Amino acid sequence: MKIKLILVLILFLCFVPAQPQSVAQKRAGRMEAGMNLSYLDNYWLGTKEKKFADFVKVSDVAKREKMFADIAKAGFKTVRIPINFGAWASLKPPYEWENKEGPEAADLFVKWALANDLNVIIDLHHTELDNSIPGAATTERIVSLWKRIAERYKNTDREKVFFELRNEPHDISAADWRAQAEQLIKTVRAVAPNHTLIVGFHDWNSRQALIDSKPFPDTNIIYTFHYYDPFIFTHQGATWSSEGLPELKNVPFPWSKDAKIQTPPIAKGKWIENQINSYQKDSAGEKMFADLKAAKEWAEKNKVPSFLGEFGSFNKYAALDARCRHAEIIYSSLGKLNIPSAWWEWDGGFNMFEPGTTKIADCMRKAIESYAAQKPVE
Ligand code: GLC
Repeated sequence: MKIKLILVLILFLCFVPAQPQSVAQKRAGRMEAGMNLSYLDNYWLGTKEKKFADFVKVSDVAKREKMFADIAKAGFKTVRIPINFGAWASLKPPYEWENKEGPEAADLFVKWALANDLNVIIDLHHTELDNSIPGAATTERIVSLWKRIAERYKNTDREKVFFELRNEPHDISAADWRAQAEQLIKTVRAVAPNHTLIVGFHDWNSRQALIDSKPFPDTNIIYTFHYYDPFIFTHQGATWSSEGLPELKNVPFPWSKDAKIQTPPIAKGKWIENQINSYQKDSAGEKMFADLKAAKEWAEKNKVPSFLGEFGSFNKYAALDARCRHAEIIYSSLGKLNIPSAWWEWDGGFNMFEPGTTKIADCMRKAIESYAAQKPVE
């Protein structure tokens, strides 16, 4: 009798259904390794007098059709499209489109992504432009942008099209961002109840902000974070970020006792110098894995999916082999932790190409492959 009971119990335990996956978890499970295709975010190519609305060039849009095919052919399953919708709407209510070419270019990007069977993330990027245009990024204006964007794409395939509410909110407190995000969620939900949203947190979608935050009540959300650590490696030479970075070069990866990093005089006593001092520890693979694991643990604890929406390294001064080592540590960690991602970026300064070509470098290919190789078998 006892044996029978034990047998029944064992059978029961074997067949108890695993926790059912949420819609967001299922969709996140199909994102895999993805790619950011920048261009519709490059507002700085426009003129300030026109509030940058004129940055989109029809010929540049057209030449990107092939890139979607190339991205799919390279094995990426998802494309994240950063789009500066904010440049094309008026500054005053009712915030109508002043420039139609911009949103029409976004439509084409979405169409081309779907034609290549890619998941596609419509990402509202750089609403604050260069911070010099008053009123560009008020909550009221961003809400209105989302009303228009959600209307525009509400009939797209909800299994494949994702709405990312705001890239890298910064200079906004955690509480203020949360309040704004809640309004954006409500706005989109009124128009597109079934599309999956992608939402990150304050402080530039940082990993720490994710860990310090709570998910929203809406269950159809994937939580994003960005990971550019160690920053002095990934952003050496970058002109748009911290003081001292444009002059910083020859940062190896990982740290090596034979390659002394020179602190640019302008960075003395600043954040960059601190980063140089802690670089030996910060560039260790175990440290990077632990960082990513902490993000995954947050998602598991909250029973929500997570997504690494941006990572990569700038190719101005960083050597290709070092960039590949850095990429492989992240891709293999993402594989082990089963976190989908999007590399920054396909064809700008963070690209994966063999210098001077549009062919993915062999060592980058090896890094990408480490993702699938490390992924747990389902
Ligand atoms: C962010 C910025 C983008 C920049 C990238 C790397 O996504 O929006 O302009 O190139 O980070 O710094």
